[in-house]
Amino acid sequence: MEKREALYAGKAKSVYVTDDPDRLILHFRDDTSAFDGQKKEALARKGMVNNKFNAFIMGKLEEAGIPTHFDGLLSDTECMVKKLDMIPVECVVRNVAAGSLCRRLGVEEGRELTPPTFELFLKNDEQHDPMINESLAETFGWATPEQLAEMKALTFKVNVVLKQLFKDGDMLLVDYKLEFGVFHGQIVLGDEFSPDGCRLWDANTREKMDKDRFRQGLGGVIEAYEEVGRRIGVAFD
Ligand code: ADP
Ligand code: TMP
Ligand code: ASP
Repeated sequence: MEKREALYAGKAKSVYVTDDPDRLILHFRDDTSAFDGQKKEALARKGMVNNKFNAFIMGKLEEAGIPTHFDGLLSDTECMVKKLDMIPVECVVRNVAAGSLCRRLGVEEGRELTPPTFELFLKNDEQHDPMINESLAETFGWATPEQLAEMKALTFKVNVVLKQLFKDGDMLLVDYKLEFGVFHGQIVLGDEFSPDGCRLWDANTREKMDKDRFRQGLGGVIEAYEEVGRRIGVAFD
């Protein structure tokens, strides 16, 4: 497989085309961003840590029967993926109240959410990823009702698999964001699953072990990501 020109440089990853029109290379950079790109910093080792973390999680999800774009690791910071037509809608499941839910509804952080909630956000930094719903997605052509139903079902299936995986590592999967795309007509999980796009708390101390450490300036960001990985069995070297 030959790596060709860069297609897109996002806030944390760069995307390269290959000689196969159906395959892309994702390069995980050390760049870290929050608040729709307003806060930015390069954190040493982050690209490697998230690339290997993501590979591990995508493998677990594939084993559980969830179709993902992941094809394999290429290097410490790169992986091969199926080229998807990305759907610009982010799916968020929450098991515990935190972040924007608390700000929006005045709910206390840490409250258990039963059943878990499901929210949709438009992937649009300029508009600060506004919350949307199925009706808006259909009317504006961001996704069809059938695609949304499939994305929702898959997002909840991911919750079953990952809640248990993190529980076994003495952590609480508080919430997470998933992105999907279409590959030859099928809805497939794309982008990444790493501590950049989810919240994870230590089950006993409730210490934050995810990107909230960066958002809130708590320090020890990558050390926390590595500790999460270590607890679930990710090999970083
Ligand atoms: P952002 O665009 O949010 O700044 P990143 O820096 O992570 O995000 O850039 C990665 C980009 O690649 C994102 O826009 C994401 O939607 C897109 N992407 C992820 N997986 C795939 C895929 N399999 N096919 C096509 N695009 C993808
Ligand atoms: P929120 O509390 O800011 O709405 O985020 C919920 C979860 O989804 C949290 O783990 C962060 C993740 N998320 C992203 O990673 N990127 C996004 O653009 C959004 C909207 C959420
Ligand atoms: N992922 C988004 C960003 O990097 C939102 C966030 O994490 O706060 O800006």
